[in-house]
Amino acid sequence: MGAQPAFTIDLVSDTATRPSRGMREAMAAAEVGDEQRGEDPTVNALTQKVAGMLGQEEAIFLPSGTMCNQIALAVHCLPGDEIIAAGNSHIVASEGAGAAVLARSVIRGIGPPSGIFSAEELAAAIRQPNLKAPRSKLVCIEQTNNRGGGSVWPLETLRQIIDLAHNRGLRLHMDGARLLNACAASGVSPERYAKAFDSAWLDLSKGLGCPIGAVLAGSAEFMREANRWKHRFGGAMRQAGIIAAAGLYALEHNVLRLSEDHRNAARFAEQIRTLPGIRLMFYPISTNLVFFDVSDSGLATSDIARALAEQGIRIGIESPSVMRAVFHLDIDTAMCDAAAAALKDILFP
Ligand SMILES: Cc1ncc(COP(=O)(O)O)c(C=O)c1O
Repeated sequence: MGAQPAFTIDLVSDTATRPSRGMREAMAAAEVGDEQRGEDPTVNALTQKVAGMLGQEEAIFLPSGTMCNQIALAVHCLPGDEIIAAGNSHIVASEGAGAAVLARSVIRGIGPPSGIFSAEELAAAIRQPNLKAPRSKLVCIEQTNNRGGGSVWPLETLRQIIDLAHNRGLRLHMDGARLLNACAASGVSPERYAKAFDSAWLDLSKGLGCPIGAVLAGSAEFMREANRWKHRFGGAMRQAGIIAAAGLYALEHNVLRLSEDHRNAARFAEQIRTLPGIRLMFYPISTNLVFFDVSDSGLATSDIARALAEQGIRIGIESPSVMRAVFHLDIDTAMCDAAAAALKDILFP
């Protein structure tokens, strides 16, 4: 096994998970071939499985969720097009302005802090055709919405958004970095959430606990262009079955347990919620993410993070006043309680 993690309780992200022994064994035993030529049987099994789960015709295996988003934007948009998305979404703030650089499109950020905008808000943002204006082309939905506190898009809101977008000739893309968290929280299947989208993807390296990988799905027509962009971005791989095997393992073993992460997130939130100086940004907790503001504590987030780090605990810093704790399969209930207790001790020594 690799080196021990630097933090014994790492709440910085659900990407902090280490592949388990079972996952590593599945990787070691994977049948492989040349992925770039479509000859890797394990990759093919994974992409077929995810396409089926999302109710889409085909899927491709990619190294990261960011590449899924960037390929989808590039396929759906022409230069000068406009993408409508929640203002707090990953494609807005965390992908190096990829929409502008790669798809040569602009993003119009809309909606409330939860990231869940309404059909009315979308309708107001879709532009009338006009030579001087960008062309409204694509609507992006982040399910769950990360910076909205892991908020879950309700099916009914999605239905209204999908109908409106399609009636107005816009396409729809789902950033499903944490789609399976939404499914665990709501009991809605991934297919019901994703089927009507023109493209949708799942991340394997977050709550599912894989070291790498994401799967982007869509129609056969979408996939022809997506494959071209995958190659162009250098995302085509060789014997990638060793990492796809981790994905297959995760889909079999790590999906049902996601609700444990949600329970731990809620448990942690309950323990810190009443501490003077702490204000939960989103409450109740929707899935596995807890955002809290510490500005009334008199301490900066960097001071709190440093004091926690001395005890082997890492919590994310979102800003000088906001922290994010993420619950995942390497965090059990005892760790969750220990992190809450450490935070309390720092605020009230
Ligand atoms: C909502 C969302 N979308 C996309 C990504 C990008 O995924 P990756 O880190 O696999 O590139 C992330 C990563 O944190 C995310 O939270």
